[in-house]
Amino acid sequence: MAKILTVANLKGGVGKTTLAINLAGQLSGPRCSVAVVDADAQGSASHWLENGNVGVTLLAMPLESARGARRWIERVLDIETEFTVIDCPPHLQAVTEAAIGIADLVVVPVTASGADLIATAKALELVRKARTKRMNGAPKCVLVPSKIDYRTSAGREIGDALKQLGEPVGPAIRQRTAFVDSFTAGQWIGDYAGRGPAKKEIEALAKYVRGRLRR
Ligand SMILES: Nc1ncnc2c1ncn2[C@@H]1O[C@H](COP(=O)(O)OP(=O)(O)O)[C@@H](O)[C@H]1O
Ligand SMILES: [Mg+2]
Repeated sequence: MAKILTVANLKGGVGKTTLAINLAGQLSGPRCSVAVVDADAQGSASHWLENGNVGVTLLAMPLESARGARRWIERVLDIETEFTVIDCPPHLQAVTEAAIGIADLVVVPVTASGADLIATAKALELVRKARTKRMNGAPKCVLVPSKIDYRTSAGREIGDALKQLGEPVGPAIRQRTAFVDSFTAGQWIGDYAGRGPAKKEIEALAKYVRGRLRR
């Protein structure tokens, strides 16, 4: 069965779609198939992937109401890839709960802003609710400092601030124009800027993710 990575936070603009696409691009390879489930009705991930440059399977699967959740979950669990990466919408919706409910690992990008920390705490409530239901410790979770600018004090302090939230903190992703431009180009960062520092950060995150899934 596919390992399910759910990228979620109850706030927009934190880098969910950027991490979902680039993690998918990094994880996929000749012997590793990856699907991206675009669960956001806004369709940013679908837009990014529509030209087929990233080499992953795209499934546009928004969910309008909780009534369709069971069927949605069945469809995701039926996907036959090594990894399935679910890109969630920014608000609390049935689909976010469903995606966290079936995740092996929930990846929560957080920027260095106070408002983000509040939305993040809410997302973590969903993770803990899912753990209570499943009773096997799943889903695992990682907080990922996202769009970080180390020239600012908030940027330098985000790592410590996140540790207070009681979940592991993964490798940080800096604020870099390459991430914005790769979206415009419809490419993942490995194809867009394969030797650059942005690619190294995604590699480090993917390595961390693989490690967490094994442990
Ligand atoms: N690490 C980064 N550095 C610079 N810009 C980023 C980074 N991650 C995301 N962005 C930009 O921030 C905006 C929101 O990112 P996105 O991934 O769409 O967030 P979300 O899916 O959480 O709404 C986009 O314009 C995107 O290109
Ligand atoms: Mg998005």
